[in-house]
Amino acid sequence: MKITILTLFPEMFDGFLTNSIIKRAIAKEIVNIEIVNIRDYTKDKNHRVDSAPVGGGAGLIIKCQPVVDSINDHKEKDSKIIMLSPRGKTYNQAKAKELSKENHIILLCGHYEGIDERVNKYVDESISIGDYILTGGEIGSMAIADSVIRLLDGAIAKESIESESFDENLLEYPQYTEPYEYNGEKVPDILYSGNHQVINKWRRKKSLNLTKELRPDLFEKVSLSKSDKKLLDEDKEKAAKWELAAIEKGKKFIK
Ligand SMILES: C[S@@+](CC[C@H](N)C(=O)[O-])C[C@H]1O[C@@H](n2cnc3c(N)ncnc32)[C@H](O)[C@@H]1O
Repeated sequence: MKITILTLFPEMFDGFLTNSIIKRAIAKEIVNIEIVNIRDYTKDKNHRVDSAPVGGGAGLIIKCQPVVDSINDHKEKDSKIIMLSPRGKTYNQAKAKELSKENHIILLCGHYEGIDERVNKYVDESISIGDYILTGGEIGSMAIADSVIRLLDGAIAKESIESESFDENLLEYPQYTEPYEYNGEKVPDILYSGNHQVINKWRRKKSLNLTKELRPDLFEKVSLSKSDKKLLDEDKEKAAKWELAAIEKGKKFIK
């Protein structure tokens, strides 16, 4: 996959490209990321890319010419051109999955007071990363690129992706690692039981209850199976019958 990012601040991407999973995905040629400085396209004799809003108002607006020329110079037959904008549809995991199937995405980052309205005609869609205003589209484009790249084959272990938050509109279950006890709080004994069927059922129950509590908006969209409904009916605090034996078994393996 190829990701082209059009920006006035290319240096902002230095850390993003040279660390962790993104760095490895680039090295393994799973993704090719191209950072393009919109300023390189200006035809203004003073190298300016922006100007005051017509009709008055605060700040500066990025002009059409350098933006449209940078888009046209990088657009390929199958490119999807996306503008980062507070006006766009709010980004989510489903959109990340959709974008991960594209061959080429171009992410256009605005800055200052935004981009001349007429640029809209040259983009396929706008994406917002939430109902708040950022200084520019750079951080949003990193968020989009990051969430898409980790879904690409080979970027991270398949199992890591399979049961993550937002799959089926559910938040992930609680996760623990060693030590067994930290500041008086213990890892649930059931997780030491070695009974993966029961552990998965316990995780599903936690995931359902957490989503119901913390994200009722997401929970509304979950299509609950018969067994999900049964799990939700159980006492949240007390272990159910099916959990008890696994908890006892787990206790034996705790060092
Ligand atoms: C300071 S903002 C411009 C805000 C604009 N004047 C408004 O009120 O809608 C500059 C640029 O940051 C980016 N940006 C800011 N907030 C964003 C958000 N929530 N999602 C996506 N992009 C955002 C866009 O590219 C935008 O053109």
